[in-house]
Amino acid sequence: MRGKIAVLGCGTMAGALIGGLIDAGTITADDVVATARSQSHRDEVATTLGVKTTPDNAEAARDADLVILGVKPYATVEVLQEVSEVLKKDATVVSIAAGVTTATLLGAWQGKVVRVMPNTPVRVGEGAFIVSPAPGAQKAGEKVVEMLETVGTVVEVPEKLHDAATAVSGSGPAYIFLVAEAMIDAAVAMGLSRDDASQLTVATLAGSAELLATGEHPAVLRSQVTSPGGTTAAALAELEAGGVRSAFADAMTACRDRAAGLS
Ligand SMILES: NC(=O)c1ccc[n+]([C@@H]2O[C@H](COP(=O)([O-])OP(=O)(O)OC[C@H]3O[C@@H](n4cnc5c(N)ncnc54)[C@H](OP(=O)(O)O)[C@@H]3O)[C@@H](O)[C@H]2O)c1
Repeated sequence: MRGKIAVLGCGTMAGALIGGLIDAGTITADDVVATARSQSHRDEVATTLGVKTTPDNAEAARDADLVILGVKPYATVEVLQEVSEVLKKDATVVSIAAGVTTATLLGAWQGKVVRVMPNTPVRVGEGAFIVSPAPGAQKAGEKVVEMLETVGTVVEVPEKLHDAATAVSGSGPAYIFLVAEAMIDAAVAMGLSRDDASQLTVATLAGSAELLATGEHPAVLRSQVTSPGGTTAAALAELEAGGVRSAFADAMTACRDRAAGLS
């Protein structure tokens, strides 16, 4: 995607996205102007990403071809309203805010709006993105998809499923980090050093993800590790008794419902 990019609210998620795109060579730091209200946040962004910064959203958005709304969901419409007067007519606005619908965004600015749910692994070029263009923004959506495919996997979904998909990949990294933490802590409790426990856990998660990426069904992969009456079977029985499946179902339903309540 060529042209100037404004990132309004360059925090954790938008910063990870821009950093990933710069590292992939999809965009250059010179293309980007990022905003944050506090000087300390702007300094951090300038240092880590090498992009220009300003506290003034309108100044950043004025010449931009692509505007990324990176503020928290409650501030997203307010920021779009703030810049709506100065936006180029043919600019594309990408909102990464959980739960904020394209209908709500179009209420603030009647242009090309694309709703995107990224996740933080984009920082290392391994993002997962959910894309739902607003009605009439299909072409803009295609360009956004093209850009995001350079830093991860993109799935386009009808907007009514955007919140459900958010519960998978938007929040998903946090579930995996929690699992990693739990495994490391359990290993330490059994006497392993934290360093050994971390190395083994991370390698296990990464290797398992690669096996899953072959397309083999998770249940088949799991059964390959599970001998009858063996060690893994004993461990899995405890996880099932602990209600791991229903805990995930409840967690993801809660995530989807919370997203739907943010708009
Ligand atoms: N974190 C994730 O894993 C994740 C995943 C997917 C989607 N998202 C979405 O990404 C968005 C941001 O989340 P986050 O976790 O990245 O939050 P965050 O780290 O707090 O980032 C928000 C940034 O916006 C700046 N900001 C706040 N109000 C502003 C304003 N009026 N004008 C300009 N900048 C402003 C903040 O800096 P100042 O306070 O200095 O202004 C901060 O740098 C949310 O809508 C969330 O739903 C997050």
